[in-house]
Amino acid sequence: MILQSLVLLLLTAIAPVFAETGIDAWLRYAPLSSSVTRGHLNSFPNHIVALNATKDGPLSSAASELQKGIKGILGLNLGVSSSQKSCSAQKTIVVSTLDSYKSACGKLPPKLDLIQDGYWLSTKGESVQIIGQNERGALYGAFQYLSLLGQGNFSQVAFASNPSAPIRWSNQWDNLNAGTAAHGSIERGYGGVSIFFENGYVKKDLSRVPLYGRLLASVGLNGIVINNVNADATLLNETNLEGVKRIADLFRPWGVQVGISLNFASPQVLGELDTFDPLDETVIKWWTDKSNRIYELVPDFAGYLVKANSEGQPGPLTYNRTLSQGANLFAKAIEPHGGIVVFRAFVYDQLNETDWKADRANAAVEFFKDLDGQFDSNVLVQIKFGPIDFQVREPPSPLFVNIPKTPVSIELEVTQEYLGQQCHLVYLPPLWQTILGFDMRANGRQSYIRDIVTGKTFNHKLSGYAGVINIGMNDTWIGSHLAMSNMFAFGRLAWNPQADSQDIVEEWTRLTFGLNRDVVSAIVSMSMKSWPAYEDYSGNLGIQTLTDILYTHYGANPASQDNNGWGQWTRADSKTIGMDRTVSNGTGNAGQYAKDVAHMFEYTQTTPDDLMLWFHHVPYTFKLHSGKTVIQHFYDAHYAGSATAQTFPTTWKSLEGQIDAERYKEVLYRLTYQAGHSLVWRDAISEFYRNLSSIPDQLNRVRNHPHRIEAEAMDLSDFTIVDVDPTECASKYKAIATNGTGTATTKLNVPSGKYNVAVNYYDVMGGIANYEVLLNGKSVGTWKGDSENYLGHDYSSFLDCHSAIRITFEGVKIKKGDTLTIKGTGNALEQAAIDYVSILPQGVVD
Ligand code: GCU
Repeated sequence: MILQSLVLLLLTAIAPVFAETGIDAWLRYAPLSSSVTRGHLNSFPNHIVALNATKDGPLSSAASELQKGIKGILGLNLGVSSSQKSCSAQKTIVVSTLDSYKSACGKLPPKLDLIQDGYWLSTKGESVQIIGQNERGALYGAFQYLSLLGQGNFSQVAFASNPSAPIRWSNQWDNLNAGTAAHGSIERGYGGVSIFFENGYVKKDLSRVPLYGRLLASVGLNGIVINNVNADATLLNETNLEGVKRIADLFRPWGVQVGISLNFASPQVLGELDTFDPLDETVIKWWTDKSNRIYELVPDFAGYLVKANSEGQPGPLTYNRTLSQGANLFAKAIEPHGGIVVFRAFVYDQLNETDWKADRANAAVEFFKDLDGQFDSNVLVQIKFGPIDFQVREPPSPLFVNIPKTPVSIELEVTQEYLGQQCHLVYLPPLWQTILGFDMRANGRQSYIRDIVTGKTFNHKLSGYAGVINIGMNDTWIGSHLAMSNMFAFGRLAWNPQADSQDIVEEWTRLTFGLNRDVVSAIVSMSMKSWPAYEDYSGNLGIQTLTDILYTHYGANPASQDNNGWGQWTRADSKTIGMDRTVSNGTGNAGQYAKDVAHMFEYTQTTPDDLMLWFHHVPYTFKLHSGKTVIQHFYDAHYAGSATAQTFPTTWKSLEGQIDAERYKEVLYRLTYQAGHSLVWRDAISEFYRNLSSIPDQLNRVRNHPHRIEAEAMDLSDFTIVDVDPTECASKYKAIATNGTGTATTKLNVPSGKYNVAVNYYDVMGGIANYEVLLNGKSVGTWKGDSENYLGHDYSSFLDCHSAIRITFEGVKIKKGDTLTIKGTGNALEQAAIDYVSILPQGVVD
């Protein structure tokens, strides 16, 4: 023991700020410093007892995880035994199910009220008890205990903890890429290729699967759907089903049950039947046989996830059957095995925008309301949190109060599809909690979304949460170190939807980056500011995110919302903006909510500002509750949000040396990128609505950039002036580009001094252009258009708001009259393309 403490002391004395890849995420079990452990090691338990652990079950994982974690955090080597006698011995960590504990140890903690997956954790006295209602619960308790230790929390606690709902699933949108020699891609995934699939099959090397299972289990997630909701029927061939079995075997030790997404037309797509009519006897038999085979291979198979008759996917409507008949087809096939069918409510048709009353936000209620009561009891309807599609701000979906007889779950998107694709820091729990904490007033009574999705309001056992997580082979899992807090928080909120967002990110930060207070407070503060900032510099007042919905869903393109059938309309014209969703004059969507809420959303006087344009079509000069006009709010918010984003890299730089170099560098790259891209957002949206409305910014910021030199105004050699589409993605609507090597030169007419030189350029996919900035012919710096090697967002082939990007050279000494040259060399499909240069006095951003 003395030796152990000495070794620990030595280890901590050399303060390990070593490089980390992110692969261990929040389960690093980094050693605590001796100042934190002092006084706790001598009395620490010296033995782990795992009672009746089934081989390769969650209880065995709990025991080995405790061993591993305690070794890492405290440097102590604890043995594990399953001896029944020692459960009450001193200085022991007992990990057990409730039943085993009862029979081995007899007495129980008083008033123990555990539900499925719940646990009891007591660190009182010299021993530790971790008792799960089932093995999974014991594993969750073990992880909770390790989280406390990892945070240096040695306090004496004794508490029971139960999950808010039984379904707490990850949804992965992984593709098989059948018929290609490609690694499985991931729809809306920004963290590399699939850990499950390649070339149309389940991978041979599944070594990332247990690591993912461990991460899921550590935050209480108990199920996973492994393939895209736009499902590939070939997942059901025999080779792949055996692959699904291998995957399930690897998740099982972590208590994670496997489910799959189904393609409704599978019997026909696979060429085995000429119909997929859900009432056809041969189809019923086909699905029954398939389900039986799946359960032979995977006896604890979780169930099916179904996207039907939506966005081109096949479904029962093809045969004039109802969605519930479609869902029940699978429900019946899977019911004898105890499986469930998760049927997605994300069903809508293309619409005609000239119809003032048409509204995609109405679709879910229109499709599902009359089916309430017609679903089999093992069907759960999974509802996206808002009526459209994971936008930066939406009201809760009205469907939550329209099908009280049907169990429902909420679908949240952990992957940041419309919210910066992991290249912008956006900590999502505050957004999720505005939804979970919304009182829907069903039947005039308090009914928070969190109580509806946990089954309390309408009295359903089956209930819960799905998070579209979309991790990939990237070492950072989801594509960015900081974005992992969203995955962690999704698990924490599914366990307890009332947990505090800030507490969660604090816990995550300590486990991920250590206990250094500066580090914790910087990351927590940036995270808590990040969603409001992103909303500010993207779409405000409930107008939706305003990303390009027809292409990458990434950068700004407000015009893409309108004049198409997708129904994400803003109805912006030169005088007015917003969807009229009132009953009195609009689409009637407000009336889909329960009375009190419907009343609130029907009138501008009672609609909150942040949803004003979701529910109302108003002039740009409409006065919000804040006292500002809509247009001035847009301008102010865009300037405020992007100003917040400018503080992120500065805050991060203050942590240099306190975080391992690898993660420090990667995060700095992203935050710097975000600061630059937030300006692209700010300018694009401000310009777009300035042009449309012809109303100037009262503070004269929009269109007024005193520090900029437009590239097209420089002396050009072998550069051509080009249009950018959308035009607002270039300052003054033009850029310069070259396939070869070009130069752009200008004389600088600024007072002599030190400046930050920012260059806004475009980085498209398909090549790596080279750039250099020179002063009087002397190089100031070079860079490459190679951000695709560092950022994982969906890339564009065009000069637009996705590819627009900024680089800044800091502290450049400039004399009045100096000659500035930007040299650019195109490569392959990537032109060297420049928008403008800003010569920024210290502290100024333009
Ligand atoms: C979004 C997303 C699609 C996805 C769909 C769904 O529209 O962009 O990629 O398939 O949601 O949830 O089904």
